[in-house]
Amino acid sequence: MRRLFPVTDETAAPAPGEGAVGGDGREWGLEELAAAYAYPEPGPGGPRPWLRANMVSTLDGAAQHDGRSQPISSAADMRIFGTLRALADVVVVGAETVRQEGYRPARARAEFAASREAAGQAPAPAIAVVTAGLDLDFSLPLFTSPLVPTLILTGASAAPDRVAAAEKAGARVLTAGEGIGVDPARAVRALADLGHTRLLTEGGPRLLGQLVAAGVLDELCLTVSPMLTAGDAQRIAGGPAVTVPRRFRLVSMLEEDGFLFTRYGRS
Ligand SMILES: NC(=O)c1ccc[n+]([C@@H]2O[C@H](COP(=O)([O-])OP(=O)(O)OC[C@H]3O[C@@H](n4cnc5c(N)ncnc54)[C@H](OP(=O)(O)O)[C@@H]3O)[C@@H](O)[C@H]2O)c1
Repeated sequence: MRRLFPVTDETAAPAPGEGAVGGDGREWGLEELAAAYAYPEPGPGGPRPWLRANMVSTLDGAAQHDGRSQPISSAADMRIFGTLRALADVVVVGAETVRQEGYRPARARAEFAASREAAGQAPAPAIAVVTAGLDLDFSLPLFTSPLVPTLILTGASAAPDRVAAAEKAGARVLTAGEGIGVDPARAVRALADLGHTRLLTEGGPRLLGQLVAAGVLDELCLTVSPMLTAGDAQRIAGGPAVTVPRRFRLVSMLEEDGFLFTRYGRS
């Protein structure tokens, strides 16, 4: 048994007199958070795609309350959410989350401008919406005025009029499946072909379940929210169960105000 609080393989030890991370009330700076959550360095063969998910769950496993994740989140959770976005080339998200959470384009943040430029990244990550039906409001800022064009990941048999509407609005449509739907492994390859290897998915549960089942998820950043909601909310990953549970290992854990910010890597 190991005592995991304050955790850490990767997080800096507190300086003498500074107290423990998470226990000292000290707010981690964005730079510290960015260092703690850095994507793996490219190997000798060059960058390969790394897909990280960022999700929040209550103690009883709810991934939303009243249809949104905001009620189970916190200010620190949003700080990590923003940091993970700032590290990513692209944010992959299911269409239902876009519709329910009213997704907007990712914004450029001054704090990360230099590090993104040094990493060869655009000022903000692209949002990539996974959708079969393309039943999206293409007049929204997500499509009409992002800093970098919003991507649509869909299947080869997507309705041509919806594809045309997406492209007319300024979105870039990528085919990543033979039928109506997207094949997760193909989606990862399609994004890598555009040079996007630092991948972040923000769910939702139906999309995440497929990424898990397809074996393309490298890492899960899971916020455990100190709340109980009961009810019948979705868990963070849904859909058909995998045959053998996928094993992940704990990489790091931070705490603030009772929220645990865990980071698990594929074993
Ligand atoms: N706790 C958290 O961290 C967290 C994170 C995100 C979301 N949420 C919550 O989760 C809820 C929404 O999640 P959800 O699971 O219902 O939906 P979702 O995964 O966000 O989106 C499902 C939609 O994505 C598209 N899609 C998924 N897999 C696809 C595939 N293989 N090929 C093509 N399209 C595919 C389909 O879009 P079309 O219908 O357009 O074809 C499908 O209806 C919201 O309440 C949100 O607040 C929670």
